[in-house]
Amino acid sequence: MSSQALGGPEIDGGSPGTLRHLAARNHLSIGTAVDMAALASDQVYRERIAREFNSVTAENVMKWSEIEPQRGQLNFAPADELVAFARANHQRVRGHTLVWHNQLPEWLTSGVADGSIAPEELRGILRQHILDEVGHFRGKIYQWDVVNEVIDDNGNLRDSIWLQQLGPGYIADAFRWARQADPKAKLYLNDYNVEGISAKSTAYYNLAKQLKADRVPVDGFGIQGHLGVQYGYYPASAVAENLRRFEALGLETSVTEADVRMIMPTDNAKLQAQAQGYSTLIQGCLLARRCTSFTVWGFTDKYSWVPGFFEGEGAANLLDENFNSKPAYDEMVSVLTLAAR
Ligand code: G3I
Repeated sequence: MSSQALGGPEIDGGSPGTLRHLAARNHLSIGTAVDMAALASDQVYRERIAREFNSVTAENVMKWSEIEPQRGQLNFAPADELVAFARANHQRVRGHTLVWHNQLPEWLTSGVADGSIAPEELRGILRQHILDEVGHFRGKIYQWDVVNEVIDDNGNLRDSIWLQQLGPGYIADAFRWARQADPKAKLYLNDYNVEGISAKSTAYYNLAKQLKADRVPVDGFGIQGHLGVQYGYYPASAVAENLRRFEALGLETSVTEADVRMIMPTDNAKLQAQAQGYSTLIQGCLLARRCTSFTVWGFTDKYSWVPGFFEGEGAANLLDENFNSKPAYDEMVSVLTLAAR
């Protein structure tokens, strides 16, 4: 089954009963981050991605440190493999990410640190990076996270290498360069801790408004959606209210990296609470008008960034480590089944 995306091309529905089938009926792309090592080695992983999702995001292989490990030597091979997998499975590809303060090439960070790369040269390097990467994938990526995590939790521009060296104008520049390299891709601002209305999300709202006023080609606002059972969640209505104010500026919105971690070990109460976390995000998205894609940051507990980053935490995904459905998966199915967007 195919369905027209909100303002976009076809979304492929796949087989009845799957997330991708249910999402397509709601004009929603449903995606997962993909770990390329797992994709190469694990057939069940591959089959489930093909079956359940109609969109994929590279968990790491489109980041700058992976694309240009040595200065001037571009390696698109792993990312091209993902694009080929997506094509074979009638999936769209979300691009992640062009400008970030993490996973930068070592030659770049050390060059800035020792002064051998001065600000004007750095600006040229950033411009070339965006033109190279977006140009390479031109026509193959439907949404790009152009700038990732550029505002801190207090609502100030993040004190990153980019702000320090180039000043705040780097954000507008990045969007303009990305548009130049692919006029059709939707260009996103993306961050965590912005699900509801807060100092941080309001700083994004003001930034988006200013960019729009300055005719900067920004098309979308992405909420990552890294939640934790132990912290609680904004209700779906509050997520939708937040998304809708961005949509009123003329942007589309997306949930880009949903997962809901917990303090291990798991138990039934935590798994039910986790299902509620996913529920607030998917319902918030469906209650907004132009929430176009919903991506989970991995879908099986077998492969997850969480245990490596938060000691003692894990089990953040929809399926367990044996690819069995958790209550969160069933909740996603039931919300998407009842919704009629
Ligand atoms: O590729 C190297 C490998 O060669 C080396 O042997 C190994 C040893 O540590 O490290 C490997 O790189 C790791 C990479 O993931 C690939 O597995 C990095 O150390 C590790 O830091 C990196 O973590 C990624 C993290 O971003 C980096 O900040 C996670 O997989 C990825 O899930 C995570 O994703 C981010 C989003 O991009 C932005 N939003 C938050 C989200 C979660 O942190």
